[in-house]
Amino acid sequence: MASEGARATVAQKSPFGTPVEAGKTYWWCACGLSKKQPFCDGSHKGSGFQPLKYTATEAKTVWFCGCKATGAAPMCDGSHNKL
Ligand code: FES
Ligand code: FES
Repeated sequence: MASEGARATVAQKSPFGTPVEAGKTYWWCACGLSKKQPFCDGSHKGSGFQPLKYTATEAKTVWFCGCKATGAAPMCDGSHNKL
């Protein structure tokens, strides 16, 4: 592992298309270790990572980053194509 800081684990090299509900809050897993992708299940403990809060403004399907390398967290920005 690189010494310049912890790297997130790649949960999968593609986004998770997820239906969300208006006004509901979601916690995106930033560490990649959660068994409940794309959401945090507490597995980040001790990894140095924290989940990222996302509040849906409308009911729709969004694309949460699964590779954890996105520059637009918690959403996929296409960075998985460069992994
Ligand atoms: Fe990954 Fe919580 S389990 S951020
Ligand atoms: Fe991570 Fe697309 S899944 S940038």
